[in-house]
Amino acid sequence: MHFDAQVHQMWEDIKQLKKERNAVILAHYYQRPEVQEIADYVGDSLELSRQAANTNADVIVFCGVHFMAESAAILSPDKTVILPVEKAGCAMADMVTAESLRAKKKEMPGAVVVTYVNSSAEVKAESDICCTSANAVKIIQSIPEDREILFVPDRNLGRYAAKQANREVVVWAGQCPVHDEITIEDVVKAKEQHPGAKLIVHPECPPEVADLADFVSSTSGLLRFARESEHREFIVGTEEGILHQLVKENPHKKFYILHQRKMVCPDMKYTTLPKLKESLENMNPQVSVPEGIRAKALKCLERMLNVK
Ligand code: 13P
Ligand code: SF4
Repeated sequence: MHFDAQVHQMWEDIKQLKKERNAVILAHYYQRPEVQEIADYVGDSLELSRQAANTNADVIVFCGVHFMAESAAILSPDKTVILPVEKAGCAMADMVTAESLRAKKKEMPGAVVVTYVNSSAEVKAESDICCTSANAVKIIQSIPEDREILFVPDRNLGRYAAKQANREVVVWAGQCPVHDEITIEDVVKAKEQHPGAKLIVHPECPPEVADLADFVSSTSGLLRFARESEHREFIVGTEEGILHQLVKENPHKKFYILHQRKMVCPDMKYTTLPKLKESLENMNPQVSVPEGIRAKALKCLERMLNVK
């Protein structure tokens, strides 16, 4: 991929600021290509949480959405955590509040609350264990068979992971507006256009779409599959930012996004190089979590990180 002189200059400026601030830049696979390229680590939610927990930097700049920066603040309270654009949120994370979860827990006393990392710190604080799309099956399997499970907030990931783990799970009525919009008709059309391609999708897609896929996994899982597969063409059912790494890692393979318009998360696109640079200059906007909530949310995240 070619980047123009302006982008190169921005990268130089950001590198300089990064050095001055002793900062590390973490970026999710859905970020813009020019943002991914300046990051120290690009990864999925789980990998980025691990990076945030283990970094020696003083400042973590999180190029992603709010819940990701919040997880970094929960795991590394002594670091300054910056989210370059304050309004970068996650529509699915907003579909559950601590209050609504408390009410549901009263209806299901004794249930283990498994909460997708795409959720607020307050919701994590009300939960027993976190998961990401990369480890949801493993987390569900780690729960004793005689315990009821409430999965929050993504019903699609919850149902997918429950099926894989062969467990009964009660799911919250949340979903990702980006992935959930994909329909069987979209899949049929894409397969008609690219008959030889393998269909790889994120588990946030509706179950009827996941059922048609050749492979279902988190963003890092999809990248691994494309790398290791002997196939040369893939229809990709997740946010289009992932194409940058897919093409970079597999220059001789072909990747087609499942749906041009639908597979774009607007919140992930708020972060631009100028915004990233500005945030490092001003050390703002910062994300922090009140200590009472942080301590409880930390337990939820740590339980997840300790499941091997
Ligand atoms: P991953 O954990 O697979 O990177 O997914 C995060 C996300 O927000 C998916 O929409
Ligand atoms: Fe949230 Fe969906 Fe965007 Fe991921 S793609 S950050 S789940 S709205």
